[in-house]
Formats: sequence, C-alpha cells, structure tokens
Amino acid sequence: MARVHNFSAGPAALPLPVLKEIQQELLDYHGTGMSVMEMSHRSQAYAAIIEDAEATLRRLMNIPDSYRVLFLQGGATLQFAGIPLNLMRRGKAGYIVTGHFAKLAWQEACHYGEAPVLATSEDTGFDRIPDLSGVRAQADGLDYVYICQNNTIFGTMFHDLPDTGETPLVADVSSCFLSMPIDVSRYGLIYAGAQKNAGIAGVTVVIVRDDLVGDGPAQACCPTYMSYRRQADAGSMMNTPNTFGIYVCGKVFRWVEQQGGLEAMGRMNHEKAQTLYDLLDRSQVFKPFAEPASRSIANVTFRCTSPELDTTFIEGARSRGLEGVKAHRLTGGMRASIYNAVSLESVQALAAYMEEFEAAHRSL
Ligand SMILES: Cc1ncc(COP(=O)(O)O)c(C=O)c1O
Repeated sequence: MARVHNFSAGPAALPLPVLKEIQQELLDYHGTGMSVMEMSHRSQAYAAIIEDAEATLRRLMNIPDSYRVLFLQGGATLQFAGIPLNLMRRGKAGYIVTGHFAKLAWQEACHYGEAPVLATSEDTGFDRIPDLSGVRAQADGLDYVYICQNNTIFGTMFHDLPDTGETPLVADVSSCFLSMPIDVSRYGLIYAGAQKNAGIAGVTVVIVRDDLVGDGPAQACCPTYMSYRRQADAGSMMNTPNTFGIYVCGKVFRWVEQQGGLEAMGRMNHEKAQTLYDLLDRSQVFKPFAEPASRSIANVTFRCTSPELDTTFIEGARSRGLEGVKAHRLTGGMRASIYNAVSLESVQALAAYMEEFEAAHRSL
C-alpha cells in the first residue's frame, strides 16, 4: 500500500488507524449485519454512534453543559447564513474580515441585517490579523462579533481573541478545530466544517451557547432546517443527518483522545509548523506569505522567488509523493496544510525536499 504525504487543505488526510477501523467495520458494523451507511438513523445502533461522538467531543474540548453540540449539513458555508438568521436579534453584528471565508460570511450577513466591518487586513492582501484594539469600543450593542479564527487560504491565525466585552464572539474554526486546546466558554458559538481536522465533508459541527439559541431563530425567514433550536431539540436529527460522516467524526474524536487530547495535538502542531517556518525564515528561495505574528499552525503558506519556480517545486513535490502543496489561486505559490492527521514524519519529508530544492536553486 503506497500512501502519499497529504498536505491538502480539505478534504484532507485522515488518521490511518481510523481508516482501517472503518474498513474493518464497513460490511458488518458491530454484528448488525450491515454497514453504518445502510443503517436507520433512528436505530439503537446509530443512536449509540451519534451519542458517543458528541460525548467524546464534549470530553475532548471540555464543552460546558450550557452549550449545545449540533452535527449539521450544508458545509461551513451554510452557517454564513445560519448564524445571522439565528443570532441577529437586534439586526446588527460586527465582522472582522481577515480572508476569503470571513469576507464571504460578512457578505452573507449583509443580507440579513447591518454588518459593520470592525477590522480588516484586506489592504495588505490578508497577510496578517489586523490590529484589534478598536474592536472593544465598537462591540457594545451588537448581537455578536464574528471572526474566522484560522484563515485556510492565507495561512494566518488569531493567536489572541478580540476583546468583545459582553458581546458574544462567534468563530469559524473550520481549519483549526481540534488543532489545540481552546476555552469554549470564551465564545458564543464556534463552528467547523469537518473535512479538515475532524472527519469528512458533509458534516459541520456547531457548538453554541444555549441562551443564544433562545426559543428559536432571530429571523422568521430562517429555514426550519437551519433553526438551532429545532436541531438542538432533535439531537441533530430533525431530518436524516449525514450518518456516515458523523460516524467518521466520532472515530476521529476518539483517535485525538487516544493521542493525548488537544494539548498533545497543540504541541505536535506547533512543532510541525515551526519545522517549516524555521526553514522558510532561513531561505533564499522560499518566502513565507503570512506576517510572523499572525502565522497559522495549520496552514503554512509560502512562495518561491518566481511563479516558474513555484511550478517546478510543485511538480517535484508530486513526484516525491508530497501531495496537495499547490496553494489556492488567491495567493498562488504553495501551502502545506498540516492538520492533526499529517504526521511529523510527513512534514519532515516535505522539509527535506524543500532543503534539497533550496540547495539546487539558491543563487551562488
Ligand atoms: C475557514 C473556512 N471556512 C469556511 C470554509 C467553507 O467550507 P465548506 O466548503 O464546508 O462550506 C472553508 C473551506 O475550506 C474554510 O477553510
């Protein structure tokens, strides 16, 4: 079996033990005589799967009882609308725009109410997290303040959360979910598309404070499916959920727990990121994209000194079994997504190739 070193931004690498367990259980899940894919979501066997997924996630993240955990469909993108539809009770929320997905979320929110931009780094090409010192003064009276905590495309990350006072903080954590410990109680809502660090495409995990869910959505036009109240009351089974996707998430949550939980993940992810950033900072051939203080531990973005060299690097990477290093078209160049399932050995294999490339292309 030849598996590549997979640096894709999402869908992304899954832990091999998880894939093997799924393979083993594929035809006959725990003596039921059927696959999880063939099983009623109302069956006892499936109830145990979704309950275990939620319980494991609650343990891993130390989620307070006052928060609901939802497993929804529609990707992270559907939450760009779901959040204002449910939470914009006064019709006004602040957005911090630090990249492509934050901007999409802000544009979507503008359909449902007022959405002032409190800070942005668009003027510097989203290469950093902007100065957040003005956020506190603007946050009063808003329904929430929205951030995208890790900007997958640009490779930037909030290392400190903005001070929003009493106003709830809402965060898209799609690409840093389970990458490190976080204090859930500092947020009103966090959500993540599962296909990066938590499982496969088609599941979005929403963790929301129950008092914000209230008796129902803020806006009457909210589709029934998107009502956090309805979904919370129905245990994410208002309709047929993504049964197989939630099963995979549950397995990934258990794997993270077996690795030592989020502290262990955080340590490992810092080490992997530092391996690449140290190399980039010494390089004459590669240039890191993100400002040092804003660097992501999940997506490392960089370029060569010319686009032609980028192409040569990416082709050489593929021929060595290093997949998915071509960056998003918005930045060009390269991006190594080094989520939890990407091992230190994979990162070292990429680093070794980068050293080799550097030696071959450095100007003498
Ligand atoms: C930070 C972030 N938010 C949102 C999205 C959109 O996710 P989805 O494709 O699940 O809608 C992505 C996709 O890569 C992302 O990286």
